[in-house]
Amino acid sequence: MMNFQGEHILSVSQFDRESVSRILQVAQSMIPYAARQKRCNVLEGAILNNLFFEPSTRTRISFGTAFQLLGGFVHETVGQESSSLSKGESLYDTAKVISGYSDVIAMRHPAMGSVAEFSQGSSVPVINGGDGANEHPTQALLDLFTIQAEMERYGKGIDGLNIVLMGDLKHGRTVHSLSKLLSLYKDITVTMLAPKELQMPDSVVDVLANAGHKVTITDTMAGNLASDVVYQTRIQQERFSSKEEADMYRGHFSLNKTVYEQYCKDHTVIMHPLPRDSRPEANELDTDLNDNTNLAIFRQAQNGVLVRMALFALTLGVDEKLTQYEKPVTWFTNK
Ligand code: CP
Repeated sequence: MMNFQGEHILSVSQFDRESVSRILQVAQSMIPYAARQKRCNVLEGAILNNLFFEPSTRTRISFGTAFQLLGGFVHETVGQESSSLSKGESLYDTAKVISGYSDVIAMRHPAMGSVAEFSQGSSVPVINGGDGANEHPTQALLDLFTIQAEMERYGKGIDGLNIVLMGDLKHGRTVHSLSKLLSLYKDITVTMLAPKELQMPDSVVDVLANAGHKVTITDTMAGNLASDVVYQTRIQQERFSSKEEADMYRGHFSLNKTVYEQYCKDHTVIMHPLPRDSRPEANELDTDLNDNTNLAIFRQAQNGVLVRMALFALTLGVDEKLTQYEKPVTWFTNK
């Protein structure tokens, strides 16, 4: 198992199965704090710099929430225009300076490899919140935590999972990272369902295939959704050269109640990293599924707080000290 303390979290390729298990175990131990049953101020006095150079709702805010739930202080930078990167300062120089102000940094940037480049100048752990179409390791970890929790309801685990990944698999960094993490488990069946032009990169398919898992590549929904999990994704317009090009692929694989009832199993869990594109021309995950108890998308987003709390605790070396720093909750809460 890796020693997390002081380490950057840049790619899921850093992890072996034991390390992933440890992250999920620590995430599980964060539930009472996230549910406001208890407080934990183990990171009181610590500073997170949250650097988001690309739009985000869930990742940025859940990183901040996770850090504050452990008692730390969060400083936010949003958009390259509000940073001296817009004046030509390098990622390396920016990291040298900001790491001097921080105990840990979370970062999202539109360029592949940018967070790793930044980390070379950082004296504190850097956690990748998404680097272009490359990776989104914390999303993959929260996805795995969600799969584990949802499968438990049906007496299953991650080993033996049958999962469909669908949508924009070429540009979707969440499915790249999740596929690599799944390769660590046993007997996984993955159906990659996408328009031919937006299929999963060979390098990612190879990771699964080389680990002995069954991979099916298809552009047809009929007959291919009877799985444990369907993981839908958005057409990543920001990675296309124009909106018109992205428009060519929108609406091809809308998952709605009719499709679910026709092709999925009774217990197929529906996941999506969010945001879902609910515009009529896309509507990749219809709101007519909102009352389906197997729709896990909002549980999935909540789990992001737990996993990010775990990564802060592990990289800052306090994962064994949580209970020593517990306090009661003193305000009204209905969580
Ligand atoms: N899933 C995810 O990364 O969402 P945001 O882009 O809102 O952070």
